This record gives sequence, C-alpha cells and structure tokens, in this order.
Amino acid sequence: MMAAPSPGLARARDDDRAAARTRIAVQCLAKRFNASGREFVAVDDVSFEVKQGEFVALLGPSGCGKSTILNMVAGLLPRSGGRILIDDDTVETGKVNPRVGYVFQRDTLFPWRTVEQNIGYGLEIAGLPKTERARRVASAVEKAGLTGFAQSFPRMLSGGMRQRVALMRTLILEPEILLMDEPFGALDTHTKLEMHKTLLEIWERERQTVLFVTHDLGEALTLASRIILLSARPGRLKEDFDVAIARPRDPVAVRETAEFGRLYSHIWHSLGEEFRRTRAD
Ligand SMILES: Nc1ncnc2c1ncn2[C@@H]1O[C@H](COP(=O)(O)OP(=O)(O)O)[C@@H](O)[C@H]1O
Ligand SMILES: [Mg+2]
Repeated sequence: MMAAPSPGLARARDDDRAAARTRIAVQCLAKRFNASGREFVAVDDVSFEVKQGEFVALLGPSGCGKSTILNMVAGLLPRSGGRILIDDDTVETGKVNPRVGYVFQRDTLFPWRTVEQNIGYGLEIAGLPKTERARRVASAVEKAGLTGFAQSFPRMLSGGMRQRVALMRTLILEPEILLMDEPFGALDTHTKLEMHKTLLEIWERERQTVLFVTHDLGEALTLASRIILLSARPGRLKEDFDVAIARPRDPVAVRETAEFGRLYSHIWHSLGEEFRRTRAD
C-alpha cells in the first residue's frame, strides 16, 4: 500500500534503511602492491557495508586507494586480504556479476560505433532481439538528453555527452548495483553539474545501490546519502557521514542548504588533513 506523505515519513525511511538488506559487504579488505621490488600497502583493513538503495560516496585524496577498492568490489582485481560479499556471495576475481554495472572515469566508448551502437553494445552481447534492443536504446538516448545525436560518433561529441553515453551504456543493462569511479572527474564544472542533474534524476527514480568514488567533496555531498571518508595512503576508513539533505535534489540549490554548508566545513577539515598528508609523502 502507498503511504500518504506525512511528518512521520522521514522516520519511516530511516527505519526502512535499518531494515534494508546489505548488498555490498567489505570486510577487513587489504591490498598490497609490488612496486619495483618493494611491497607497499595501498589499502589497509577497510570494512563497510552498502545497503539496498543507498548512494554511498567513497571520498579521499588521490592515491589513497579508492579505485583499488572499487576494482576489488567489481572483481577486476584480486585482494591481498579480507573478504567482499555481494548479496551474500563472495566476489570472485574475474567473474562477471550481471547485477553489477561499472562506469569508469576514462572515456571507454568505441570510437567506430555511433552513440546508439555504443549504448546498445551490452544488449547486443546479451543477444537481445533487434527490435527490443532498438526500443530500449531509443529510450536511453532520450533519457540521456542525446536526442538527435543517436547517429553521431564519439569524436563528434563534447566530453559531457560522451560521458552520458558511457553512463547509459551501463544503465541500459539495468544493474541493481552501480559502481562508479570518478565518472565526471574529467569534465568542466558546468558540465559536471549537468551530469549530476542527470544522475540524480535517474537515481531518485530508480534507486540503484550505488558506490561512487570521488575526491570531490562537493560532488559527494550533492549526490550521496552517505559519505565514507578514507585516509591518505594506505587507504583506511576514517569517518562515516550521513548526508541528510532532502530529495529530490537540485545540484545548484543543494549548495545553498544549511546541511550542505555544515557538512562541507566539517568534512573539509578532515579531508584537508589527508590531502596534506598526501603532499607530505
Ligand atoms: N597496479 C598497480 N601496481 C602498483 N601500484 C599501484 C597499482 N594500482 C594502484 N597502485 C598504487 O596504489 C595506490 C592507490 O591507487 P588508486 O587506488 O588508484 O588511488 P585513487 O583511486 O584513490 O587515486 C597509489 O599509490 C597507486 O600508485
Ligand atoms: Mg582513482
């Protein structure tokens, strides 16, 4: 039954979250690399959980191990220690989980394929019939605000448009769990805000479980429901913050809320310590 909006709704949502099932569980995760014969610790004893429908930002200075953690969650990189569970199954390196989608920072579009061929790539691999594929691709093109560009090649698009295509190429597979590694990191501020708007609209409608890596505090506060702050290398868990800003959020208006300002100055201080440690290294 649909509950009518009421003052009790916020509390009911909190109760929902406590009862929500755990989709990602990272337990005592560690990663050591060998760099020119010397072993160094990149990730050290990291544990956290992401619940169904949560949007969690993993925030920390460059080089603190964010991508390394995400790649281990995605099963793209072997662990040196600890465990990762997705829906209670241990993540096995090299095994693709169809419930998990990954959006990379770098532009990974096929330059020889058009926008619609790029977006439809995964459906093609999955062997979806042509008419069904065309229907879903057309809807994704529209959702991404790329109407009129379906036949364009990546080289004809701006950076923001290319990243929209990359986002849709993953979202069209309807992953329940979305891993994103600084997907808007290479974009200028204005384009980045537009991408935040697109992502917020999609997420607020579809509520995927998201683990989003970034070093940008403003971006984390705009998008996430929770921020996990990592220390400088080796990446360790430093603090965990709830971002209790109402939704739907607008990426510009959100910056004018009291909660944004309060969290920004609080987390900035803590994050700043880690940026300084990175520089002192
Ligand atoms: N394949 C690798 N071999 C050796 N060192 C690596 C490798 N991948 C990452 N590193 C190192 O591990 C640390 C964490 O890297 P990374 O996870 O990419 O950081 P972040 O994503 O937070 O910027 C960095 O010092 C980086 O140079
Ligand atoms: Mg990275």
